[in-house]
Amino acid sequence: MSSDQKGESPTQHVNATGLIHHDYRAPLGFESPQTPVYKASSVIFPSVREMQTRNWEDRSAYTYGLHGTPTTFTLESKLAHLEGGEQCLLLPSGLSALACVNAALLSSGDEVLVPDNAYGPLWSMLSGQFKKWGIQSTRYNPLDAQDLSRKINPDTRLVWLEAAGSVTMEFPDLLGLLQVCHERGVTTALDNTWGAGLAFRPFELLGTSSSAHGSSGVDISVHALTKYPSGGADLLMGSVITRDKSLAKRLSKYHEQFGLGVGANDVESVLKGLQSLVLRYDAQDHAARTLARFLMGEPSVAQVLHPALSGSPGHQHWRAVTCSEMRHEGRAAGIFSVIFKPSNPLQAIHAFCERLKLFKLAYSWGGPMSLVMPYELELMRKGSLAHLERGHLVRFCIGLESVEDLQADLSRGLQGLSA
Ligand SMILES: Cc1ncc(COP(=O)(O)O)c(C=O)c1O
Repeated sequence: MSSDQKGESPTQHVNATGLIHHDYRAPLGFESPQTPVYKASSVIFPSVREMQTRNWEDRSAYTYGLHGTPTTFTLESKLAHLEGGEQCLLLPSGLSALACVNAALLSSGDEVLVPDNAYGPLWSMLSGQFKKWGIQSTRYNPLDAQDLSRKINPDTRLVWLEAAGSVTMEFPDLLGLLQVCHERGVTTALDNTWGAGLAFRPFELLGTSSSAHGSSGVDISVHALTKYPSGGADLLMGSVITRDKSLAKRLSKYHEQFGLGVGANDVESVLKGLQSLVLRYDAQDHAARTLARFLMGEPSVAQVLHPALSGSPGHQHWRAVTCSEMRHEGRAAGIFSVIFKPSNPLQAIHAFCERLKLFKLAYSWGGPMSLVMPYELELMRKGSLAHLERGHLVRFCIGLESVEDLQADLSRGLQGLSA
């Protein structure tokens, strides 16, 4: 008689306990190039004493998946190495990494200074939820260190920096802005997504000058790993990196209290992405410069905004931080914007974006596929736009396609636009 006929399910013959507990341990001596993917909420302690004494905060032990696994600690340490920092936190998106810095460092009555061309959602966050919490945010001109100096006051607790600025791509006077913040003892946080840890060393920008937290550059570097480190346009993650133990502790408390863990499979993807980061960044940089120069010669184009092109706003500031004796030709990300002449109506610009076949209409950057996006600057910016030509702005993010194919796609798309 079969087990079904006896009224038993076939699974009752299987020892369920044996499917859960096991004696297998990976043998010492097993090595392979990729980091194993450890997945955990529960982490098993061998004794109560061990459970009571383990410390995850200094990354010396494991207690619960949210506080780290060998996989997340490996990514943290690689990112700290990439950016020249010491402590790293991983968060579920670049935006949540920006929020972590604001929430950990600002209290009611404080003020934060933000560059006028900062990533838009940072502005929305500060003028929305953080304003409700009694935190004031004020804009400054990132091309003018004196403007920042005038705006720092006794309530200023944090200055945000972003290099290059979002969408309009002005490269800030990073050295001048940092000098002011060091002199006035104000903490600085840089959105370093564009530089990706490759274009310049964020913690070592000024040589001799030192911040209140002992850094000769910025105090905190935030990175949307969603972009270049992932490289796949298929996940979201962010990091916050510091060199100062007391800052790291404050950031880590917020991270812990708000439960901001990341998934092991996504961490694995970023670990793989990092292995080709330098090759991809340089290839996308090279292709972007080729296409930006090509567009400069187009009669329908009024201005090309790319920090590495002379004449682009902040080009000298870009040179000052990216070109060294060792590396005469500075690095730049594969992203730039173009202002088309106002003789082209907005609908013609939208039609151009839609005509492109290889450039897809989508947000983000740093992935394998080239992207295009039109922006209406007057709706985005409150500060002066006097350094920009009048017209319609379109941003291009260069992927890994052949640059000849991308240029042919642009050439086809440009037909129909007027000078
Ligand atoms: C400069 C910059 N910082 C931060 C972010 C936010 O990253 P995420 O999309 O992972 O939230 C973005 C996203 O576009 C960005 O461009």
